[in-house]
Amino acid sequence: MLRGNDGLTPRTSTLADESYLDFVESFRMIAGYGVYPKVAAVGDKLVEEQLGSLDPDLDLGAVNDVFNSTAIAKTWQRVMRTHQEMNWRRVRDSFAPFEAQILQEMEDAKTAGPGKIVIDPDFVTPDYAREEIHLMPGGYTDHPLAGLIYHYGTKVFYTGMNDQDEVHVELAQTMTPPEGKCEKILDIGCSIGQATMQLKDRFPDAEIWGLEVGEPMVKYAHYLATQRNIDVNFIQALAEDMPFEDGEFDAVLAYIIFHEVPVPVISGIVEDVFRVLRPGGTFSVFEFPSASQNLPPSQRFMIDYDSKNNCEPYSPGFVYADFHKILKDAGFTIEKGPTNSNPFLQTLVCTKPA
Ligand SMILES: C[S@@+](CC[C@H](N)C(=O)[O-])C[C@H]1O[C@@H](n2cnc3c(N)ncnc32)[C@H](O)[C@@H]1O
Repeated sequence: MLRGNDGLTPRTSTLADESYLDFVESFRMIAGYGVYPKVAAVGDKLVEEQLGSLDPDLDLGAVNDVFNSTAIAKTWQRVMRTHQEMNWRRVRDSFAPFEAQILQEMEDAKTAGPGKIVIDPDFVTPDYAREEIHLMPGGYTDHPLAGLIYHYGTKVFYTGMNDQDEVHVELAQTMTPPEGKCEKILDIGCSIGQATMQLKDRFPDAEIWGLEVGEPMVKYAHYLATQRNIDVNFIQALAEDMPFEDGEFDAVLAYIIFHEVPVPVISGIVEDVFRVLRPGGTFSVFEFPSASQNLPPSQRFMIDYDSKNNCEPYSPGFVYADFHKILKDAGFTIEKGPTNSNPFLQTLVCTKPA
């Protein structure tokens, strides 16, 4: 049976699944935060000895060969891949017997409020958006329970740091509103709407929209909002081709969407965000680092590994692109944004000149 929620996070259908996934979560924490720094230290030292420098222009194949000659890097890779597979498989299997019931609940929620959901029956999902990012089965677009699977799978991914949407509370509390009115706010690539819903908490009088390419994601987001009685709206659409008027929004938020789209799409999204913002409006970005020309070999090895073995096909394109130039070329002025508790993220406040 379905076992309700633990606060804001759904519970798996059996306690055995929950215990198993708790183990996977610990496994991830050890691999990611405990082992990787050692992989980096050992590998960078060997690269320097064998290739003569830590130069960012070293041939990536040669760098990978050095790392792959060490037992610790090989073990780390196996653990990273295997724990992801264990996570998704168990989450998917835990909810699978209840698929019909969950789909019916989401269907019933479509006409419920307080907010609304907009699905275009003629929407065509571009192929680039159908990759199984992070190895999630069916990706964001092609598994009917993608929203729920993503919700529990990312609970594990965040290793306990987002069980009560803490990451999304911080995003909503620290995104930068514009000077003057802030009556209409958009969250692009909103996934299951965790930040979208938290924005309502900070801006209770604003009209808030979450926009997302994946239909099962946006349906689940709306379902959660109706369960929590939060007045936010969701729409299935492309962030590079938004069905909104010019200047409609006072503020836009983007949290880790850009490293998951191809480079030409990055520019398309930035240009369309510029279009839908009013003059003086702000675009708050929380994202992977970019224009990373001086990365040590260990980080180049890790990004390459992740792109191939954790299905992040677009992240190298983003990480090495000059994202700030793309923003400036679209017309934004950019400043450093608020410090985020995840030190890996860059935060930017981009303003459309008044
Ligand atoms: C890593 S998730 C973003 C996480 C989310 N912002 C949050 O608050 O947790 C990236 C999301 O962007 C969506 N996405 C990717 N390309 C998109 C596009 N062109 N337009 C709209 N959404 C897109 C994906 O389907 C996915 O749900």
